[in-house]
Amino acid sequence: TQCGTVFSGIQPTGIPHLGNYLGAFSNWVKLQNDASSQSQLIFSIVGWHALTLPQNPKELLHSRHDMLAALISVGLDPSKVIIFHQDQNPDHVELAWILSCITPIGKLRRMTTWKARLAASRNANAESEVDESMLNTGLFTYPILQAADILAYRANLVPVGEDQQQHLELSRDIADTFNRTYHTDLFPLPQHIITPSKRILSLKDPTSKMSKSAVDVQSRILLTDEYPQIRSKIRAAVTDSIAGITYDPAGRPGTSNLLTILAGCTDTNVSDVAKRYETKGHGQLKADVVEAVEELLKAPRTEFNKLRGETKYLASVSESGLGKARSISQRTLAEVRRLIGL
Ligand code: ADP
Ligand code: NA
Repeated sequence: TQCGTVFSGIQPTGIPHLGNYLGAFSNWVKLQNDASSQSQLIFSIVGWHALTLPQNPKELLHSRHDMLAALISVGLDPSKVIIFHQDQNPDHVELAWILSCITPIGKLRRMTTWKARLAASRNANAESEVDESMLNTGLFTYPILQAADILAYRANLVPVGEDQQQHLELSRDIADTFNRTYHTDLFPLPQHIITPSKRILSLKDPTSKMSKSAVDVQSRILLTDEYPQIRSKIRAAVTDSIAGITYDPAGRPGTSNLLTILAGCTDTNVSDVAKRYETKGHGQLKADVVEAVEELLKAPRTEFNKLRGETKYLASVSESGLGKARSISQRTLAEVRRLIGL
């Protein structure tokens, strides 16, 4: 196994969903429980990233609290890994500013997330010739903040979904630019850790990913969903009318998504799962997905519902996590300041 410092983050923008669980949390817990690994693991609830889109302040406060409870309830152990609120550690923003001063605007313009925002705002305002001057600066520069999140801990391993690959490449680029500009090897070039599970798609529109922000709440399964909700959402999932079950993400995205979910929940290979369902129908597949999702989420859901009320405990976890995080990031920032002459 690879060793070093692992960093990853999640936005406090609502109750986490099955995609977050299979795409992120389950991998984080595996890394934690890998007995042969000597890695330092750091998981951050990235409140500053949430601000790139409009947030209701009351809901944001709840979401930050809930996300901490969620991370612990899925199996992360605060005595083994560092869990903290990014927005409580000012080192991230200080480093982000410094890095923004060595990052060309053109590199940010090439981010596909930015291009998608731009296209979406143009479509929504076709009449009024909206351009990028209407969009928030934070939405443009947040990939630099992501680089700072990682580099503040000199993390070299970053488990993120495929949607984040380009941002991680930018982080490497920024780290390399800093090292060359200031004649140092302070920053390791952060590498992606391959996550075994594929991205989980929306149950209602299997051409887009399952996401906290989609308007249709039937499109995602939440950590808080009870069995009846899981059952009705899976039963209503969009599939196709082709007989038999095959794994064909391009031709049969809905059916393939159910196979991916089943494989993820049971920790098996998706092609093995597909083989078992070759001659079966969607009814059987959906029934089995319901049971597998319930089996996966039952214990964390119970734990989450309990932990959400334990405000004092959660405050103590985030305070001690912040202390550990800052003791690392302060050393990095001291070295950065020395190198740049501040
Ligand atoms: P969201 O996109 O739902 O707001 P975040 O951007 O906070 O979630 O992502 C948190 C983590 O969960 C990231 O590592 C991301 O790659 C992963 N993730 C988010 N949505 C999915 C999905 N549909 N399938 C797999 N992984 C996902
Ligand atoms: Na995301």
